[in-house]
Amino acid sequence: MTTRISFPRGFLWGSATSAYQIEGSVKRDGRGESIWDRFSSFPGNIVDGSSGEVACDHYRLWESDLDLIRDLGHNAYRFSVAWPRILPTGRGIVNTRGLDFYCRLVDGLLTRGITPFVTLYHWDLPQALQDVGGWASRETAYAFAEFAEVVGRSLGDRVKSWITHNEPWCSSFVAHRMGSHAPGIRDASVARLASHHILLSHGLAVPILRSHSASCKVGITLNLSSTIPASPSPEDVDAARRRDGDLNRWFLDPIFRGSYPADLVMDAVRAGELKVSGMDCILDGDMRAISTPTDFLGINYYSRIVARSDAIGEDENHPRTVQVAPRSEWTDIGWEVYADGMFETLVRTYLEYRPSVLYVTENGASYSDSPGVDRRVVDSRRIAYLRSHLLSAARAIEVGVPLAGYFAWSLLDNFEWVHGYTQRFGMCWTDYATQERIPKESAYAYRRIIEENGVVV
Ligand code: FCB
Repeated sequence: MTTRISFPRGFLWGSATSAYQIEGSVKRDGRGESIWDRFSSFPGNIVDGSSGEVACDHYRLWESDLDLIRDLGHNAYRFSVAWPRILPTGRGIVNTRGLDFYCRLVDGLLTRGITPFVTLYHWDLPQALQDVGGWASRETAYAFAEFAEVVGRSLGDRVKSWITHNEPWCSSFVAHRMGSHAPGIRDASVARLASHHILLSHGLAVPILRSHSASCKVGITLNLSSTIPASPSPEDVDAARRRDGDLNRWFLDPIFRGSYPADLVMDAVRAGELKVSGMDCILDGDMRAISTPTDFLGINYYSRIVARSDAIGEDENHPRTVQVAPRSEWTDIGWEVYADGMFETLVRTYLEYRPSVLYVTENGASYSDSPGVDRRVVDSRRIAYLRSHLLSAARAIEVGVPLAGYFAWSLLDNFEWVHGYTQRFGMCWTDYATQERIPKESAYAYRRIIEENGVVV
């Protein structure tokens, strides 16, 4: 006997991408340089020596990509706008050719009956702004507000769902403390500054977007994980507090409570990352702006964190304190498959922070299954990942979490940041030589789930 675990009526089903990871055409139609163009150009930064120069050539193939999204049954699509396409030097003169691309994209989605979710910042800061300090400079928050103004004014009549930032933990801490994302800075104090200015820019953008987009919904996307200590030892328990603080609370607290977590500020002072005066980059009104009530919270969930005290240093996505339980399954990128974490993260975030609505704005797995002789891509492990995480999300809905949509990461295999083209997260296979897209079996499985508005078990 089969049972269907249903999702609420009107649930949004989509996929997500980001500009630098799929668009290519980095010099076309007046686009300026981004920090990822620059970062990728240094040997050793990207494992396969690649960049987003061509990526999935989506800037030219967008129409057939939108047909693909429609044919796969998605009713929503999350993408990001490239700041350097719209304001090539970050501020000032608007490049209308860049803006026109996103107008066409939005219109193309709407005519196909697909709801656009637009992310303003998915990590591709104009290099010109980096040259004058980047996110370490407060000015960049004001530049972001101007960018929000330009995009909001032009798309606000048609776009009703806005995400200011994607994963500020990555754009501040991975990019400025660990140094493995652009601009590749390794300085914990600079990373704190960057995090504050990114959050401030979010707060400044919320009313601007609202002013240009009647009855729109504005939110932010955070990458959150459930965090547990590797053992009950006080040291591991404290490591879990710090890891949870670093990834989750450092961003949730300011947005929902208007303050940085006191224990983490204290830790940072002890570590010499902050002066005894704490976060003295906070000016009057900043925390009020950052905690401006939003309409939803986007959560990107991939894996969990198991924190250990006896490790030092940290690497790109996973600080070395992270040790994952043995006998787990792992995706090709090295992330543990832990579907219960979806439930844990949704429930914890809702209970502690009470966002009015939640979306899973990214969730997915890297598996390298490739086309067989029959051209089919049988990515059974991705289907299992998808189903288990959706069932976990359904449990969260059942206990009362107001989850309103799910976006699979990703529509296409694409440029996976430092991993270049070595990791394939797509529901569609990208043949980088020909730019052909082949929907994998998971894309068809997802289409059935969407048609049924539920998972058959
Ligand atoms: C997230 C990013 C996204 C993609 C996935 C795998 O952290 O937001 O761009 O790289 O991870």
